[in-house]
Amino acid sequence: MKQFKSPILWLIIAITAVAIYALKPKPNTAGAGTPIVSVTVPTTLGANAKMGQGAFETHCAACHGVNAVGQVGIAPPLIHKIYEPSHHGDLSFARAAKFGVQAHHWPFGNMAPVDGITDNEIISIITYIRELQRANGIG
Ligand code: HEC
Repeated sequence: MKQFKSPILWLIIAITAVAIYALKPKPNTAGAGTPIVSVTVPTTLGANAKMGQGAFETHCAACHGVNAVGQVGIAPPLIHKIYEPSHHGDLSFARAAKFGVQAHHWPFGNMAPVDGITDNEIISIITYIRELQRANGIG
């Protein structure tokens, strides 16, 4: 094992390790978590929509972002033409929360069912999303 005492060998090992690390492909997470759209929250949110806002922040915002602006690499904005009532009716929101969603519009993967959410919370979240959509010219 004489050769392991050679400083040259250690140097080569060190350079190889640095090179392997430097050349290793890194996942492209540039921009992950940044909002996808900008959303204006109206001062006129109704009482039920305000409850929905709280429930949304508890159950949905970790992925869809506060005020449903979406997050790059994580989940889509819900204040978006794709989710206006004529394309994604209220039932599709209830279904998403209860049963999850198979990825089909975006490259973010599936949405798992949301644990521990009540029907009343879902109803108020839908009211909140629809009021936000209308205030931002959608639907
Ligand atoms: C763990 C992350 C995560 C959470 C938490 C989450 N979602 Fe999602 N959601 C996603 C992803 C990802 C998609 C995109 C699926 C696709 O590609 O169409 C999605 C899609 C949706 C859709 C579109 C459904 C369809 O039919 O296309 C709705 C509506 C939705 N989410 C509502 C909600 C609501 C309401 C909550 C909270 C109660 C919530 N999501 C919580 C990740 C999440």
